[in-house]
Amino acid sequence: MDSPLRLEVIVASVRPGRFAPVVADWFLRTARSDARFDVGVIDLLHIPLPTDLSETPEVAAYRERLAAAAAFVVVTSEYNHGYPASVKTALDTAKHEWRAKPIGFVGYGGLSGGLRAIEQLRQVVAEIHMVSIRESVSFHQAKRAFDADGETKDGAAIDAAQRMLGQLAWWGRHLRTARTTDPYPS
Ligand SMILES: Cc1cc2nc3c(=O)[nH]c(=O)nc-3n(C[C@H](O)[C@H](O)[C@H](O)COP(=O)(O)O)c2cc1C
Repeated sequence: MDSPLRLEVIVASVRPGRFAPVVADWFLRTARSDARFDVGVIDLLHIPLPTDLSETPEVAAYRERLAAAAAFVVVTSEYNHGYPASVKTALDTAKHEWRAKPIGFVGYGGLSGGLRAIEQLRQVVAEIHMVSIRESVSFHQAKRAFDADGETKDGAAIDAAQRMLGQLAWWGRHLRTARTTDPYPS
């Protein structure tokens, strides 16, 4: 069997009192129970990335982590029909490290369930030569979708997470091989 794919889960919200950890922890438990992945977390609250895109030791370490990863998932809230600014900075802070790698999305929010944020992110990740995974996970009225233990009974989301991980593993595996045998033309 192939070695597990290094999957970095990027947590977007950096807001005080954010709901993000509930959604992110649920997804992390799901992903970590899947032997196809070796899962890490990049919580943007704890990784200071300058919005002016200047170079810092933290930026260098962040880019090294991206370079070592074979797949990504962004756990994103939706603010005013868009994605949080922290994610844009996170995407703009690297370049070659993203290329020819797959990225999936877990969105949450009020009425929209983060779907508008996700669709906007697809445009951005295409520009940085990533493959966006078709299946995405969405929680509308997110705070009602989880119980006090951080578990959800939202069958559609549970099913979507499994499908998304399956597609992410497929792309991750094939693109990892392809990057080695036939370097991506940039
Ligand atoms: C500034 C702001 C704008 C928001 N805009 C939307 C929106 O356009 N669509 C939506 O579904 N939810 C919206 N919400 C609700 C958030 O998605 C919801 O509060 C979510 O829990 C935020 O994630 P966080 O707590 O992890 O930061 C907004 C919340 C904030 C704070």
